[in-house]
Amino acid sequence: MSRTFVNGAAMAIGCLLLVSMTTSPSKVHPIPARSSAHVGVLPTLPRIVPAPPGREPVYAKHGMVVSSSAIASEIGRDILKQGGNAIDAAVATAFAMAVTWPSAGNIGGGGFILYVDKNGKATSFDFREKAPLTASETMFLDSNGKLISNLNHRGILSVGTPGTVAGLFLAHQRYGKLPWKKLVDPAVKLAAKGFVFTHALMDDSEWKKSTWTKIPSTAHVMYRNDSIVIGQGENWKQPELASTLKRIRDKGHDGFYKGETAKRLAQFMSSQGGLITEKDLAEYQAIERKPIEGNYRGNIVYSMPPPSSGGVALVEMLNILEGYDLKQVGYASADYIHLLKAAMQRAFADRAEYMGDPDFNPELPVARLTSKQYAAQLKQTISFDKASPSDSSRFGQIYDGGNNTTHFSVVDNDGNAVALTYTLENSYGSQIVADGLGFFLNDEMGDFNPMPGVTTNDGQIGTKPNLIRPGKRMLSSMTPTILVKDGKPLMVIGTPGGRTIINSVLQVILNVIDHQMNIAEAVEAPRFHHQWLPDCIYLESLTVNKNTQEELTRRGNKLKELPPTWYQGAAMGIYIDRKSGYIMGGVDSRSPDAGGAGY
Ligand code: GLY
Repeated sequence: MSRTFVNGAAMAIGCLLLVSMTTSPSKVHPIPARSSAHVGVLPTLPRIVPAPPGREPVYAKHGMVVSSSAIASEIGRDILKQGGNAIDAAVATAFAMAVTWPSAGNIGGGGFILYVDKNGKATSFDFREKAPLTASETMFLDSNGKLISNLNHRGILSVGTPGTVAGLFLAHQRYGKLPWKKLVDPAVKLAAKGFVFTHALMDDSEWKKSTWTKIPSTAHVMYRNDSIVIGQGENWKQPELASTLKRIRDKGHDGFYKGETAKRLAQFMSSQGGLITEKDLAEYQAIERKPIEGNYRGNIVYSMPPPSSGGVALVEMLNILEGYDLKQVGYASADYIHLLKAAMQRAFADRAEYMGDPDFNPELPVARLTSKQYAAQLKQTISFDKASPSDSSRFGQIYDGGNNTTHFSVVDNDGNAVALTYTLENSYGSQIVADGLGFFLNDEMGDFNPMPGVTTNDGQIGTKPNLIRPGKRMLSSMTPTILVKDGKPLMVIGTPGGRTIINSVLQVILNVIDHQMNIAEAVEAPRFHHQWLPDCIYLESLTVNKNTQEELTRRGNKLKELPPTWYQGAAMGIYIDRKSGYIMGGVDSRSPDAGGAGY
């Protein structure tokens, strides 16, 4: 289907025009210092686990982990110190985050690993959740064919068959060095002995109280005596999760997908009207896949292939932008934002039209969308004078920039690198803890297109590649990415944030490669997002000044400045500085419990 990007005034679709905030007329906007982005009704108390301040990298000579959980980063770092490689450290960090960062760190969800070894050889692991075997295309619709409100994102039917344990196990089998048990054991101990409940966890427990106390299995895990919020600084033990992790430690993949855990999970699903059975679990397999490969200004860009849309869209945008001197265009200038938005708009239109699970869509046009030739064609459709309107008769998805996913980056002493992004979809997934097993279940079924054929400009996509099918993986935006220069990993990056992920990763890469920011500045810098429809640029607060906003509006762009407490993902990056020999970590202060640990 052809798509025309005409120059003209953008259509007003769900995007409030805002021209407030900073008044500085300077073209290059300074990077603001950020405090913890986790804002709630409770008073802000000092952090128990200090995260390094934004803009200052964490430095190390041998190895490093940067993640949204300082405790988990330290566990990963300790594995590196004990002679583990980047995959070993990633496995240990991922299991630790299932204990310390339960909003997104998980064993009840899924995700992706991108791995590039010290010689620049790249591979990836897909452990995306799958639709249960009895799922159907119309399972979230009522008898009139209408979407039952939020059913695909809330409640037991929103749960996809989890993939995390399978993915970590497969990656370890292929490339791990230390014994599996050694990597899972720190998480077992952390869950059994407990760790200090952070302000962020306390804040979430307060905020979610009305929901979680209605779900007995969740209330049991998240509150003292099922209802009392655990205070910041108290020790939080998760004995049921410890037992589940112990079975994974001792039996590997089968410790989750077979035996007691599988039986209990299937029984719980059945008692709640869910679809996942022991057969779903027994049949789940992670897959090693060939990464997406691009080239941006002499750097090889490896990123995640479908069922993530991230790698394809990222490379498509980089290919378009390579045709411009972005330094000359000017960081955060009206031209810069106008241009990046145009690239985002085009890549997201293609994402909506073409992307889905490759195992169910053998003809995905990946090669075409990631080719330089296609980018050159798209470049011809971009004008600096007038914004291209998104075609409102087609495709649309609502803005989704929440803290629903998490990413961490690892580099080991040999220079091997891992970018791992995994998710429960929404923050704490379906909100449902698997009874007796101690972990949150995802609500990833919400990433499928729920209404076949129904594509609107305010929130639905109904295109075929991402409709529900039994055993199919839902489309993702997760974009774990590694840049390689002269045959060795140079930069490792990723972030949470739903569909904003792809645009956040793009902007961090541009910040480093085109604007020569250090990795900490690059992850900290304000970001913005456009996703084709709604036809709107969502700006983090303080991204651009008033004059720039006015100029963008004059050209026909629609803008929405987000409130200061909203943020676009929390990127965790590593840059390997060839000159100094330092590994530099960028820990995004948008994530309240984050930390980098190196040695
Ligand atoms: N659940 C977010 C994503 O996969 O993109």
